[in-house]
Amino acid sequence: MQIIERVLEMQRWSESERRQGRRIALVPTMGALHEGHLSLVRDGKVRGDRVVVSLFVNPAQFAPQEDFASYPRDFERDRELLNDTGTDVLFHPAVEEIYPEGFETRIEFGELSKPLCGAVRPGHFSGVATVVATLFNIVRPHVAIFGCKDYQQLQIIRRLVRDLNFDIEVIGHPTVREGDGLAMSSRNAYLNPEERKAALCLYRSLRHAEEMVRRGEWCGAAIVDAVRGEIAREPLARVEYATLCDPESLREVERVEETALLALAVRIGKARLIDNIILKP
Ligand code: PAF
Repeated sequence: MQIIERVLEMQRWSESERRQGRRIALVPTMGALHEGHLSLVRDGKVRGDRVVVSLFVNPAQFAPQEDFASYPRDFERDRELLNDTGTDVLFHPAVEEIYPEGFETRIEFGELSKPLCGAVRPGHFSGVATVVATLFNIVRPHVAIFGCKDYQQLQIIRRLVRDLNFDIEVIGHPTVREGDGLAMSSRNAYLNPEERKAALCLYRSLRHAEEMVRRGEWCGAAIVDAVRGEIAREPLARVEYATLCDPESLREVERVEETALLALAVRIGKARLIDNIILKP
């Protein structure tokens, strides 16, 4: 596995691979890798001839009071995992390489960035979209793979690609879960054993909602109330949002019609955990 730290070198590598007719798959990450990330890399290996993984903790997507400084970082471990998973290039730029002095551009979103995480993390998706567009221009992938756990992020990137005419296929990879159902996340590292147990309330509540729909309950308020009730039974958990919305526009819906996205953000100790499920009648 090659490690590239400079933008120009990354661009040259990609240009040369493209000229040789190879298909490049990109998996953007912020490191602190887990099985969820590695399954994106494996997916990339199937979809592309070469897999590039970017590892960059992007300061632009953290608000000042958020966990940028304490975000888990373990470069050596990440490097080994990526090497063992068959990554071709690990792109690991310094902050000044991505945001050199004088960098001023921000990509702003409209309606898609307003609900769910966007409502509690203003500026977050602008930071995500800006760095992802930058990475697209540096790595020039044919295909880019993102996890469905960050559903709103995935929708925003899909829209970014469509609106700005990036010639890139965006793949949403199904959420990878621990054996007991907890969605894998770098932020699970913040949970102590008691909080780790409490965190199961997210998946439990989503499954409960799925079961309600299976039994014929299509009313959004009833489903969301039940989800909130399930989470309220866990004293360490505090719901930030539990919302039923349209999976494309992310606008809130009152009923599960064809499909609906049930999205959750829950605080447990220092961790802010998100999860979601697509409900179908
Ligand atoms: O999902 C993440 O890890 C980040 O938001 C991403 C897409 C790598 C952009 O920094």
